Amino acid sequence: MEQLLQQIEAYKQEIAAIVPNGADSLEAYRIKFLGTKGIVKNLFGEMRNVPNDKKKEFGQILNEFKQFAEAKYEEWKQSTAISHQSSKNEIDLTLPGNALPLGTRHPISLVRNEIVHIFGRLGFSVAEGPEIEDDWHNFTALNLPENHPARDMQDTFYINQNPDWLLRTHTSSVQARVMEKQKPPIRIICPGRVYRNETISARAHCFFHQTEGLYVDENVSFADLKQTLYFFVQEMFGKDVKIRFRPSYFPFTEPSAEMDINCRICGGVGCNVCKHTGWVEILGSGMVHPKMLENFGIDSNKYTGFAFGMGIERICQLKYRINDLRLYSQNDVRFLKQFTSAV
Ligand code: DAH
Repeated sequence: MEQLLQQIEAYKQEIAAIVPNGADSLEAYRIKFLGTKGIVKNLFGEMRNVPNDKKKEFGQILNEFKQFAEAKYEEWKQSTAISHQSSKNEIDLTLPGNALPLGTRHPISLVRNEIVHIFGRLGFSVAEGPEIEDDWHNFTALNLPENHPARDMQDTFYINQNPDWLLRTHTSSVQARVMEKQKPPIRIICPGRVYRNETISARAHCFFHQTEGLYVDENVSFADLKQTLYFFVQEMFGKDVKIRFRPSYFPFTEPSAEMDINCRICGGVGCNVCKHTGWVEILGSGMVHPKMLENFGIDSNKYTGFAFGMGIERICQLKYRINDLRLYSQNDVRFLKQFTSAV
């Protein structure tokens, strides 16, 4: 019995050490271990020499060994079949391929790309800035000094470690970063993510996306602002779009205006999105405040500029009729896969 067990252990080691190679050695293995006169068969023959009270235990050991030897055979057979196939070039090239499912772009990315594309045709290039901003670029440089009441319009997330740091509340901070480095003519579009301390609901989120636009040069007028934005909405929503400017207030522009378009969801008859007015606000804008230009050493007697900032989610909502802001960040594939586009 002792001898037999040692013998089995030795066979096991022999089998475990085998590196499968080729059909011939596979067949030799089968004959040696699993054939009708093979080792496994012989070992089972030894059963009759085993004392009765050990038969059960020995039988189990033998069965285990048999399964082990057979498993090795199957594994070997498969790897041999694969290498046999590829070495003889027997892959059937006429078989249909496995189509990889194609992903879709996120609707926010689609709309952002389209915005960039439309303004690109007017000579605007993309500028980017950090999402973790300092007070100067997000507020003070934009004519929003400390304690300015307009700071309350935006519930700001501050960074614990440094009270001067915050998550940018608007992409207007990129205006400041660009004017600090670049002199006119400046014609930029600045898409990106912004953060505000809002409770998440269908209509508000603690992060969303904006794009800023800035054009500074000699003789830039409000008429340029209006025509540029009109061109933009016509490209984005179609030629039938109507626009309306309302006077507004932003510390970094003077005069300031908000722009509405006629509601793309209900066509003007009234719905929840336009709050039954037929008009939807899509952006804030105005002529760059002379003080802002001076903050960056740009001569405000020589240069003028316009700026605007719009929410990408809002444009997306009107374009694709998305009624709940939370859908943008829930990553539900049933939502995401509905969007396709060439851009
Ligand atoms: N930063 C403003 C906001 O987040 C939007 C805005 C208004 C940007 C007027 C501008 C502007 O550049 O001129 O509400």
